[in-house]
Amino acid sequence: MPTFRAPRGTRDLLPADAARFQGLIAIARDLTDRYGYRPIETPVFEQAAVFERGIGEVTDVVEKELFRIAPRTDEAEAWALRPEPTAGIVRAWVQHGMQTWPQPVRLTTIGPMFRYDRPQAGRYRQFWQFDVEALGDPGPAIDAEIIELGHRFYGRAGVAGVEVHLNSIGDAACRPSYLAALVDFYRERAGAVPGPARARLERNPLRLLDSKDPTMVAINAGAPRIVDHLCAACAAHFAAVRAHLDAVHVPYRLEPGLVRGLDYYSRTAFEYYVTAREGQQQALGGGGRYDGLVELLGGRPAPGIGFGLGLDRVALVLEEQGMADDAGPGVPAPDVVVVSADPADTIARFVVATRLRGAGLAAQPDLGQRKLGRQLEAAARDGAHFAVILGDELAGGHVQVRDLKAGSQRLVAVDDLARELGRAVASHRHGTGE
Ligand code: HAM
Repeated sequence: MPTFRAPRGTRDLLPADAARFQGLIAIARDLTDRYGYRPIETPVFEQAAVFERGIGEVTDVVEKELFRIAPRTDEAEAWALRPEPTAGIVRAWVQHGMQTWPQPVRLTTIGPMFRYDRPQAGRYRQFWQFDVEALGDPGPAIDAEIIELGHRFYGRAGVAGVEVHLNSIGDAACRPSYLAALVDFYRERAGAVPGPARARLERNPLRLLDSKDPTMVAINAGAPRIVDHLCAACAAHFAAVRAHLDAVHVPYRLEPGLVRGLDYYSRTAFEYYVTAREGQQQALGGGGRYDGLVELLGGRPAPGIGFGLGLDRVALVLEEQGMADDAGPGVPAPDVVVVSADPADTIARFVVATRLRGAGLAAQPDLGQRKLGRQLEAAARDGAHFAVILGDELAGGHVQVRDLKAGSQRLVAVDDLARELGRAVASHRHGTGE
């Protein structure tokens, strides 16, 4: 027999991990509800062209990391797993004519994304993103709303020391002349620029600024900065975004080298980092404005901005900071366990527990065939408050209800059981402030 393992770069989220993720998702949902972002779900795979055109052919995400789905012989369409949700959401915007909805349209989604990345801590081939998008508003106020929302999410999740790195990468008016200056700069140093970077120089010079190659990092320190080449409209937009952030005291740092890894961005670009995270350069999240993306994917031009926050990285940082609460086995203790004197009588336990569950109680029948003592031991271990014990009294329509915490026990009519237990559980919860 082969030993099967989760594919390289993927992880099983066991109950304790999954419970932590669910906690983060609950925070994200609570915030987006309050900020007026409505849920959207798009397929985890799309036509590959949605990503190629939307994210850009000359990006790592498309060139190296796209999980392509081999087409079946009878299908011409090439598909790929989504490496991020923005392109798919914009595809949906165009397909469903959302430009006719009241503007702006605020949307949010949470789910797994797929990138054929080189796996390492915090970098996986399947990872989770909390994403928000606001379409139809050119900003700048909504840019600040989104940046503040992401910052608040980290605060609510308990991540300490999150800082926004902020830049403007200009628009169609000012970027071309900046790119020309950048290409000139690299050409003057062509001898020093490593081969892979040189290959990208003509096709996508902005990507060179994003390089992690130490030689490029050194060269880039002297590269022209886009903030020095912004047109008047982009400069005014950028100043207004900062003024809005200042007004709500979101801490940010201007990062002229921040260009983002996807091609659809214009103007506002930002990433979230934990300051002074030992040896870590990984962004916890990032986003920006994409005013040309709707048109690129075939729609009437409409502006947009959003972010994607990596939940795996949030969980990792919480662990590093000692903030990962012990979620235990990930299942809350049952209110009630149902046990019986007859080890073989699983039907009676199953029937009573099913009735209690139908009445809204967290009831857990012991479905094994072990002795009553063992069943009660397991109930205490699971942290149950009450045990319903089925014995001889059942013939007369009664059962024993034991309060496992108080050690008391009394006879209750089966017909009254759900009501009595419901009341007891409610008063117990009230008493413990749960
Ligand atoms: P991104 O910067 O490519 O942006 O990804 C956003 C976040 O996803 C990253 O900051 C990181 O936390 C997480 N992430 C990315 N790749 C991985 C990986 N391999 N393993 C674990 N986490 C990862 C976007 O995806 C844009 N769609 C954001 C956006 C939304 N822009 C506008 N709207």
